[in-house]
Amino acid sequence: MTAKPNPKGSNKTEIIMTIASKRGFFYPSAEIYGAKAGFWTYGHLGTRLKHSWENTWRNYFLSLNKSYFEIDDCNIMPKKVFEGSGHLKHFNDPLTECEKCHFRFRADQLIEDALNTNVGGLDETALTKIMEDNKLICPKCGSKLLPVKWFNMMFELKVGATGEDIMYLRPESAQSPYLAFKREFEALRKKIPFGLAVIGKAFRNEISPRQGFFRLREFTQAELQIFFDPDKINEADNWDFVKAYKLRLCLAKDVNEGKITEITCEEANKELKIPKFYAYNMAKVQQFYLNKLGIPEAKLRFRELDEKERAFYNKLHFDIELDMDTLGGFKEVAGVHYRTNHDLGGHQEHSKEKLEVVIGDKRFIPHVLELSFGVDRNVWALMDIFYREEPERTLFTFPAAISPIDIAVFPLVNKDNIPEVSAEIYERLGKEFKVFMDDSASIGRRYRRQDEVGTPYGITVDYDSLNDNTVTLRDRDSMKQVRVKVDDLIPTIKKLIAKELEFEKAGKAVVAKEKKE
Ligand code: GAP
Repeated sequence: MTAKPNPKGSNKTEIIMTIASKRGFFYPSAEIYGAKAGFWTYGHLGTRLKHSWENTWRNYFLSLNKSYFEIDDCNIMPKKVFEGSGHLKHFNDPLTECEKCHFRFRADQLIEDALNTNVGGLDETALTKIMEDNKLICPKCGSKLLPVKWFNMMFELKVGATGEDIMYLRPESAQSPYLAFKREFEALRKKIPFGLAVIGKAFRNEISPRQGFFRLREFTQAELQIFFDPDKINEADNWDFVKAYKLRLCLAKDVNEGKITEITCEEANKELKIPKFYAYNMAKVQQFYLNKLGIPEAKLRFRELDEKERAFYNKLHFDIELDMDTLGGFKEVAGVHYRTNHDLGGHQEHSKEKLEVVIGDKRFIPHVLELSFGVDRNVWALMDIFYREEPERTLFTFPAAISPIDIAVFPLVNKDNIPEVSAEIYERLGKEFKVFMDDSASIGRRYRRQDEVGTPYGITVDYDSLNDNTVTLRDRDSMKQVRVKVDDLIPTIKKLIAKELEFEKAGKAVVAKEKKE
């Protein structure tokens, strides 16, 4: 048996990959030397898209509570950190190797691809048995596969001139707030809950980083660790604002059918026993995707991971999955993790440093609720979900607030003072927005080029502009055009980006039919 073919998805993947590399979103790192799988460079547009996502995340999650802050830390950490966190022992993936060609595969993925079934959480004996029972062979050369064993995914480094210090590249940004906990708790006047966020690199020696841009060996995470009193897990300050809000859940028992249960936070708390603090944060994560990133509701679900599937540090674990054509359905982009006192407890034990707190007359190790996002996966999801094909063009319908370019300026011709007026407008807008000047080829072709990278607004400077100081403003999605005074451009575009103004009301309508190029 093989996995279902997905021609629509693979075709779309190729198209997006081509646009991404040709237009400067991303491309394989060290490409001129023959790139290594799992390492990517963000080009000039991709860097902007990534930063837009990160800034949207930062502004949104750090403003959920006055006591949430961001820190920045090293990527390389001592071995003892990962003894304390448990990664040295538990951060393993199941590996199988071909007896003949010695190619190595991630066993669970190999089985899932071949049998189209979920085997997450099974141990090495169970995985080996499934491979044997189903006579699975090496996808490369057709030979026998060896029994499954565990492979630790951390990158080890030898540090110092003699190389005797063994250190590791951090496999998750999360460890940084745990290591900083004591200092920040004291600096922040010994109150909980408080939160420490990191937007930074993580490194994993993935066995088969084959899903293009999705499974990387070096990637960025945006994670918020919220330290709280475990006795208050069933309390949430702003519960009244979310209790009637409906979450889209795919419960562990429904994963195979993919059934989605829409349930209010109140019902999730009463019927599914999801604690209020956890449900509140799920609501905030869902609202981030729907309201801030403009992801269509039907494309999002929370998938519950059962005891066998969830990470070794989690007691309650829902992944956020987005439905992507390029990946054949719902795939994980983030997670809400109840990590208990696993990490602070482990670090207290291994470092011998007291990490418990005293609040009132209670002494305890705070528990952690983690909101964990893979930035690169989210960038890919934006490219997948907002890609659109129309008979005359391809475009990314990114929400204006996250597009890599806000506005493109097009001088109609390169003479008669039009370039000079365009340059002035470009300078003025450049103080407030990300602006791009495109002065070559026909206007229609220039529109298409900007549509292809998702630029929401275009401004054409023409002969009328010289007389009446107005320009044509074009909307990417509807291709409608209005005439706007140059002096009104900045406030008008600000309102459009903030969705406070409908495009048709932004100026005097222009009847324009775009020519096919
Ligand atoms: N601190 C918790 C943690 O790291 P995780 O589920 O292993 O949990 C969190 O990772 C997120 O990081 C995932 O939801 C995913 O978006 C991203 N991620 C994990 N491994 C990745 C990889 N190899 N390449 C790209 N993103 C990855």
